Amino acid sequence: MKDCLILFNARIVTPTGTISRKGKEMSQLTVIENGEVEIQNGIITYVGEKRHKYQGSGLYDGIQHQNLHGRCLLPGFVDSHTHLVFGGLRAEEFSWRLKGESYMSIMNRGGGIASTVDATRKTSLKDLRESTGGLLKKMFSMGVTTVEGKSGYGLDFDTEVKQLQVMKSLNEMDTKRVDIVPTFLGAHAVPLEYKGRNKDYIDFLINVMLPYVKSHDLAENCDVFCEKGVFSIKDSRRLLKAAQEQGFNVKIHADEIVSLGGAELAGELHALSADHLLHASNAGIKAMAENGVVATLLPLTAFALKEHYARGREMIDAGCAVALATDLNPGSCFSGSIPLTIALACIYMGLSIEEVITALTLNGAAAVNRADSIGTIEVSKKGDCVVLNSDDYNILPYYVGMNCVLAVVKNGNYYSEKRNK
Ligand code: NIG
Ligand code: FE
Repeated sequence: MKDCLILFNARIVTPTGTISRKGKEMSQLTVIENGEVEIQNGIITYVGEKRHKYQGSGLYDGIQHQNLHGRCLLPGFVDSHTHLVFGGLRAEEFSWRLKGESYMSIMNRGGGIASTVDATRKTSLKDLRESTGGLLKKMFSMGVTTVEGKSGYGLDFDTEVKQLQVMKSLNEMDTKRVDIVPTFLGAHAVPLEYKGRNKDYIDFLINVMLPYVKSHDLAENCDVFCEKGVFSIKDSRRLLKAAQEQGFNVKIHADEIVSLGGAELAGELHALSADHLLHASNAGIKAMAENGVVATLLPLTAFALKEHYARGREMIDAGCAVALATDLNPGSCFSGSIPLTIALACIYMGLSIEEVITALTLNGAAAVNRADSIGTIEVSKKGDCVVLNSDDYNILPYYVGMNCVLAVVKNGNYYSEKRNK
């Protein structure tokens, strides 16, 4: 049969369901020994025990069979928070931070996000497409089959649209291996042109940008950098409410540098997710747990900024659904390392390996409103999976910063390490 793939002799390890898993549920995984998965036309059509006596890998009766020799098969990873479309790099800033300067102080004297805005405005769509495509390839090799990507390095009409078009065009490629879920982050910083006029800039986003982005189908979600000295709770509430009225799902960069009440606002608005949360208050954690907000934690950013980690363990114990993502961006965290994300979450946030698997799959999918179609290995979900190089999923944090992904299945196509090269 054309467009059919059978994976067999797999140790299938997956959360289940079509909504995020909260609290204790995060550690409940289904494990099927000697399992088989059938994917037809990109959609999973069978998951269970082995049905036939298949032998080696190859093509039998016109169907591609892949013998996984007992290795772990997980759902494809969902990196639900990245800023992967940008011009230029900011290595010099990193060296200033090593000498003791803070992220916010660099931002306040015109560096930081503003410097990437400048570079992104000057970079052509074609060049942005090429550099973003390069990053996607690296992410795919680490098991990422869906990524969220934000605009926010334009802060003017043309460049915000250019960033979103880069994602749209990569998404429409026949040969694509990673699906991109686009998020509009026009409220990433106040651009120089609007210095001191936050209200006018938010008006521009609400009245000009959001309607255009919506009518051209350029983004599904709207995000804001809700932070002291950037966008206040009041600014953020006004923008996100307007975005919801215009049909967007909302997400918030919340309580990253100081405890401002972003997690509480996410609860109030029933946001898809609140992200970062290094300084989330107890009330904020409660608000997220009670209102179905996915708490998206980004340990690579805390690591790169030499900050303490978000209270992941406490959030799960309080009943939150936690997701893990990389935050890949040219400033606070120039890393898309899934292996290091996993190790940091286990070592410094106290998550169990089972919780990490749920956080990177089903809960990541929920954070981008895709839990009905990806994030688990179940019938009628997309045929997106990851093959580990071991029959033991404990290998995930043990491989500190090293890749233990042997092959990635995207839409029912099998890409082994060799073919990734
Ligand atoms: O998620 N905090 C705001 N935005 C990004 C950093 C962006 C940048 O430094 O360029 C973040 O960390
Ligand atoms: Fe971010």
